[in-house]
Amino acid sequence: MHPPFTVAELAPGLPFGATVTGLRQADLARAEVREALTRLWIDKGVILFRGGDATSDMQCELSEVFGPPQAFPFKESRAEDPRLVKIKYFPDDGSCYEVDGKLIGGWIPWHADMTYFAQVNRGGILRPVHLPRSDGRTGFRCKIAAWDSLPQRLQDRIEGLHVVYTANLNYAQGKFGRPASLKFVRGAASWTRIMERMYQYPRVIHPMFYTQAETGRKVLNVSPGFADGIYQMGGPAGEDLLMEVVSYCTTDDGAYFHEWREGDMVLWDNWRALHCACGTPADDTRIMERTTIAGDYGLGRNLDGGVGLPRFDA
Ligand SMILES: [Fe+2]
Repeated sequence: MHPPFTVAELAPGLPFGATVTGLRQADLARAEVREALTRLWIDKGVILFRGGDATSDMQCELSEVFGPPQAFPFKESRAEDPRLVKIKYFPDDGSCYEVDGKLIGGWIPWHADMTYFAQVNRGGILRPVHLPRSDGRTGFRCKIAAWDSLPQRLQDRIEGLHVVYTANLNYAQGKFGRPASLKFVRGAASWTRIMERMYQYPRVIHPMFYTQAETGRKVLNVSPGFADGIYQMGGPAGEDLLMEVVSYCTTDDGAYFHEWREGDMVLWDNWRALHCACGTPADDTRIMERTTIAGDYGLGRNLDGGVGLPRFDA
């Protein structure tokens, strides 16, 4: 039987991503639908769902096709429904940066979620709740394509190396892959509470590349956001090397920037894709909700001891 939805490219010529049109919540009861969606997800990394059901309940049920839900470790980020993370920007309560002299609300650099933990979530589904009048795009890029674009010299050079990550959510203090002109202006109340604990979060390391288990493709496993340096190469040589590698995953070339419409949902493989938030005008409001798909690719290591996820419920 043909699947009850259509599949198309996400954007012309893009080496990753797909658009699924017309998926209904009732279709998720069919095993062959769930299997087809899972295969597509592993193959393409990012899926835009459009023109189908798009309630919060559909978002959570669809998310469970790809893995069990996980409560996000930071309680400040959870929505009323604990299966969902709320990503919000309000003019009077939002993290704001100045980028190239312009005030931008909710800007987030290229990153993979939860890279600052040893256990990185498998993926997520993002859905708009309130869209700003303009901007508010989300960028996606593929780390398999990034690996393929890396010169052989760099592929060889990063063999066996790891990147150290910290949960510093002040992106103006980020060392890699941010605009040189970026300045921190103010933090949201929830952001401030999370940052008060920043020295209590562990330092973790992740290998600079790994092989996608299902397909054997190599993944450039670097998140520019939250990266602090190369574990085995402190000092300028390591910083230069990481800067060079990061330059292959931060240009607009090869990226997809999603212009949100009401009723859209975007699923991504957090082990294989990077994303970023382009931000909104500082006087506008944007609210998104995201599922967190649990998982552990098993290659992250907590340098401060302990296993599993830290909890910040107190
Ligand atoms: Fe994110």
